[in-house]
Amino acid sequence: MLKELYERQSIRKYLDKPVEEEKIMELLRAAMNAPTARNTQSWRFMVIENREALDHMQTLSPYTGMMKTAPCAIMVLGDKRDIEPEEYLYVNAAAAIENMLIEAVHQGLGTCWCAIGPRTERIENFRNYFHIEDHLIPIGVVAVGYGDEVKPKVDRFDPEKISYYK
Ligand SMILES: Cc1cc2nc3c(=O)[nH]c(=O)nc-3n(C[C@H](O)[C@H](O)[C@H](O)COP(=O)(O)O)c2cc1C
Repeated sequence: MLKELYERQSIRKYLDKPVEEEKIMELLRAAMNAPTARNTQSWRFMVIENREALDHMQTLSPYTGMMKTAPCAIMVLGDKRDIEPEEYLYVNAAAAIENMLIEAVHQGLGTCWCAIGPRTERIENFRNYFHIEDHLIPIGVVAVGYGDEVKPKVDRFDPEKISYYK
């Protein structure tokens, strides 16, 4: 068992402590090592460390209140020029995000994955605020920081969700 997988939880409260640049790079390295359809690596990443932008994020997408305490967020975008149909951009980005979340646990960091797309209003809010080019779709934004909350561990394993075709 990979312990980081089972320790990962969405963290919505962070310490007022910056995240080391090397750790951010490790998250991005982990993200870019994820599989992608036809190896298109259609992802792009924007590291957001601007306090004003982090504080403002909740007006772009309602469930991103944790960004007010996060020292950093990583936006994951998909490049429409790399692959069609668009659904692949989401699948590829999701694989990258999950890798980031697991690597973050390994680095002693907390994270919270927040969706942007496919809701068009949120995509446009992020596009306008961060001046994102038309060929890029902001798919998700991950809060990153040192956690300031302890949550009970949960085990969601549910044999009812498994079927067999032998
Ligand atoms: C696609 C996706 C979108 C999510 N969007 C948000 C969000 O906007 N805000 C938030 O606080 N959490 C968001 N989450 C986190 C989920 O709420 C969280 O993963 C779920 O409640 C399970 O809790 P855990 O991550 O602690 O195991 C999102 C997770 C995923 C996978």
